[in-house]
Amino acid sequence: MPDAHPLTDKTIVRPERGEDAKAIEALLDVCFGANRQQKTAYRFRENVAPITALSFVVEDKDTKQLVGTIRYWPVVMPDGTPSLLLGPIAVEPQRQSDGIGIELMNYSLAKARTLHYASIILVGDAPYYNRFGFVRDVMLGITLPGWVDENRFLGLEIIPGALSGQKGMLGKWPSTPTF
Ligand SMILES: CC(C)(COP(=O)(O)OP(=O)(O)OC[C@H]1O[C@@H](n2cnc3c(N)ncnc32)[C@H](O)[C@@H]1OP(=O)(O)O)[C@@H](O)C(=O)NCCC(=O)NCCS
Repeated sequence: MPDAHPLTDKTIVRPERGEDAKAIEALLDVCFGANRQQKTAYRFRENVAPITALSFVVEDKDTKQLVGTIRYWPVVMPDGTPSLLLGPIAVEPQRQSDGIGIELMNYSLAKARTLHYASIILVGDAPYYNRFGFVRDVMLGITLPGWVDENRFLGLEIIPGALSGQKGMLGKWPSTPTF
């Protein structure tokens, strides 16, 4: 597979393909519950496609079973500039704490940096995401159109000031047309 790269000892990472959709949904249901779509972050994903160049899956090297997924969505900063909403990221429960999540984060963040976005944001556990440089304090001027635990609303500035200089509501990316 030309686009596949080793991720950990036992896994590879490759771009997501159409036929992965069912396995990804099943993995997200297991990791986040079937009610996950009611979360505020999902408002930014409705009728908007994830960024193809930043949608990856992790496969077991031997069984080819899908054991991890990560996607990023485009969002609009209060000043109208684009940003990336990271997530969901999920690792199959029996394969968690084996380094897959950290490697998948580092792999995808490196790719995201090549796409020249000024910032990346997410809603997630600070103790996990702090290690990648995501922090709360740059997000204090940005609000969301729904409830989130504010301590989980985190950001990473690729260009200094790209988040801390914002004031106002995070916006949804224009809907992706369906043909
Ligand atoms: C969160 C998740 C993607 C991490 O992937 P993973 O492959 O299990 O994690 P890794 O093996 O790469 O990293 C393990 C490290 O992260 C820590 N960690 C894992 N999940 C964590 C969390 N929710 N909060 C804080 N630390 C966490 C582990 O304690 C471990 O730390 P250590 O290296 O200091 O021992 C994965 O566990 C998952 O899909 N969980 C279910 C969904 C979820 O709970 N998401 C919450 C985050 S938004």
